[in-house]
Amino acid sequence: MSAPRREERKRRVLPVSHETRAQGWAKVEQCRSNCRGRRERPPHSPIAGKLCAAAAVIFAAIVLRVWGVTPFTLLLAIIALSYPAVRLYGWWLSRRALAVLDEPATHTHGMTMNYAAPVYDFYCPLLGLGAEFRQETLRHADLQPGQQVLDVGCGTGVLIRLAARMVGDTGEAVGIDPSPAMLQVARRNASADGSRDGGVRAKQEARAEANCAMFKVAAIEALPFEAGRFDVVFSSCMLHHLPPDVKRAGLAEVYRVLKPGGRFVIVDVDRPATWWVWLIVWPLLFMPMTAVNLRGEIPSYLRAAGFEPVNAKGRWIKLLSFWVAAKPPAVP
Ligand SMILES: C[S@@+](CC[C@H](N)C(=O)[O-])C[C@H]1O[C@@H](n2cnc3c(N)ncnc32)[C@H](O)[C@@H]1O
Repeated sequence: MSAPRREERKRRVLPVSHETRAQGWAKVEQCRSNCRGRRERPPHSPIAGKLCAAAAVIFAAIVLRVWGVTPFTLLLAIIALSYPAVRLYGWWLSRRALAVLDEPATHTHGMTMNYAAPVYDFYCPLLGLGAEFRQETLRHADLQPGQQVLDVGCGTGVLIRLAARMVGDTGEAVGIDPSPAMLQVARRNASADGSRDGGVRAKQEARAEANCAMFKVAAIEALPFEAGRFDVVFSSCMLHHLPPDVKRAGLAEVYRVLKPGGRFVIVDVDRPATWWVWLIVWPLLFMPMTAVNLRGEIPSYLRAAGFEPVNAKGRWIKLLSFWVAAKPPAVP
């Protein structure tokens, strides 16, 4: 490998000092131990997840041992092993992505999606969440040049990059997500489409180029922005990843960082529109984070956070709804 390429590779793989990375992990560990101290139960218990993964491996081993290796038993074993494999893959991806972040990691009880990062942009359009869906989401925001926009749980950054073009170089578009792997893809996409990665810390440099989206590792329940900073906040397909208490805390944070009179545009899982969608999704009623959505409680959560009015703006693929919630203007 030539010296410049080696340098470039080193720059991409290890731009962070060991100290920064250690601080990131220390913060995550601190947060985890606080939760343990408060006897707080995470929404998707890591123990339950590990037990399920172990049970899947044992099941696959028993099937192959008792019935031997046949096409059918192999298929069963592969299906059973896919769960621990995806978990391991997600863990490995997040470790790798954390190593190239120039900022500390964050801990959340929301369900981060490290494992999905490499394939997310591929499968979203297959699920009906392609370009048309993004345009419909943006339409409800009515973005104007010069506005400050935030996307909470931005994933690979598809929506916030489009929003960045609409607010132009006089505006600002920031995406946050606690998943290092998602943000790694978002940043790669941002550099590829001509806007500029850089994270909030490299803001000055990034702002030199027009229409840039910026990304930051953060969770909705602890937004690292001052009060009243944004004109518009987006939350796209994210709230159903949060357990009820984190949903409440996150919505209060969005309310805080919005300007008075600002709008919050949400698209998320709602009560299914037809019986056949119920037939597919009813098991999700057993998970607190998705049950709130399926019971149609998102508007009441928004009102409890202070948003008024909260307007339903239509449906998407029989399962999702759009809402626009306003932070009331300041009283003179
Ligand atoms: C289904 S993806 C949606 C991504 C993107 N908004 C979109 O519309 O394609 C949900 C995202 O929420 C993120 N997430 C999970 N917990 C979160 C939290 N506490 N705060 C912010 N984002 C969170 C996940 O990491 C994931 O990237």
